[in-house]
Amino acid sequence: MEKIIVNGVKKLRGEVNISCAKNSILPIIAATILCPESIVINNAPMLEDVEVICKLLRELNCEVDFSKIDDKLKINTSNINPIDANTELIRKMRASFLIMGAMLARFGYCKLSLPGGCNIGSRPIDLHLKGFKLLGADIIMGYGFVEVKTKKLIGNRIYLDFPSVGATENILMAAVLAEGTTIIENAAQEPEIEDLARFLNKMGANIEGAGRGKITIHGVKDLKGIEYTPIYDRIEAGTFMIAAGITNSTIKINGVNEEHLRPVIEKLKECGLVFSEYKNNSIIVDGSRIKKAVDIKTLPYPGFPTDMQAQMMSLLSVTEGTSVITETVFENRFMHVTELARMGANIKIDGRTAIIEGVPQLTACEVKATDLRAGAAMILAGLVADGQTEIGDIYHIDRGYVNVEEKFRKLGADIYRIDV
Ligand code: EPZ
Repeated sequence: MEKIIVNGVKKLRGEVNISCAKNSILPIIAATILCPESIVINNAPMLEDVEVICKLLRELNCEVDFSKIDDKLKINTSNINPIDANTELIRKMRASFLIMGAMLARFGYCKLSLPGGCNIGSRPIDLHLKGFKLLGADIIMGYGFVEVKTKKLIGNRIYLDFPSVGATENILMAAVLAEGTTIIENAAQEPEIEDLARFLNKMGANIEGAGRGKITIHGVKDLKGIEYTPIYDRIEAGTFMIAAGITNSTIKINGVNEEHLRPVIEKLKECGLVFSEYKNNSIIVDGSRIKKAVDIKTLPYPGFPTDMQAQMMSLLSVTEGTSVITETVFENRFMHVTELARMGANIKIDGRTAIIEGVPQLTACEVKATDLRAGAAMILAGLVADGQTEIGDIYHIDRGYVNVEEKFRKLGADIYRIDV
């Protein structure tokens, strides 16, 4: 079993390069099922989650080749088998469920095991299925599986009770080859949705309004193979911004889209970080000033991202004053609180709200990554904790951060991975 060791207290310096967005490349890989031609995805981050969805496509008889030399992912789904996808892989990573919309559009059929919930919440799929049903699919559920089938998908108007990222993406992929026009209302507006739509439109789809609350999809007959480069990972970039703040350091981050990070940058400015020299997708982050307690409410984009909540909690744990974090997106995304408390953080939970009293110093100890972003929060806390922090269950972290300890080490952190 692997652990990450972080020796505090360390300042950071230098620059870090951000990888392509995990939450962009996963739906884009799923969308390759829509087109029986070769597709090349550039700058592919070989994350655990990317490997899982690539393995799933290989199991379905697709050609999937990753070239380590130039980080190009080559995919050809022309010989895909529309058989039941491997249940174990679907359960291992819920994002695999994103292949359902594309399989339904291409074959009129798909049967997948119900995606597992995970630590942060029940992760239902009712909105995905509502969209498929409104497009004309029959839904059969039972024995841990969900089966969708249709003779033909017909465009329709679909209102999402919640702007679900996954449901928006799955329905978008189902609609691109449907007959007629589909309108998704109260759609998710995350930058990764816009990126998926840009990818599909480059393949020949006809999608308008992605990135806003109403998306219109005019069905087309077929799509063509392309080469594409997904956007940068705004959550990885935000994580390193907080690394500068928590260690009172100044670093340069390469691979930032300021617009995509607006809610995070504005909140970090309120907390006392200074941002400058934003050009060519790079930005200087000065975290050397005294920090101020701030209140945060996580919301769907363009609100403050839930995927940055745990990392912010690490920063606010050592920021003088009282901060309040309200998690409105997932029902159980405070498991990192107990881990931070082990390090001396003073946090009280009241339902979906955490009240954080900043302490002068955290102390190192053994902690666990309770989910992907909580793991990143543990690394951030370890950078400023007195002593050696040992982080277990780091498979969570590898799902979303490429060579995480290498990137921090290059910034001057005393961090390494051990096999125990
Ligand atoms: C995506 O998950 C991201 N994952 C998550 O990132 C991110 O936290 C989340 O969006 C919110 O931004 C990927 O893109 C692979 P949702 P997703 O559907 O699509 C409810 C990370 O750390 N809901 O927007 O599963 C659900 O219960 C991961 O990178 C329904 O009620 O998120 C939740 O409360 C974690 N019915 C809320 O919507 C549905 O059918 C948000 O879920 C679907 C969702």
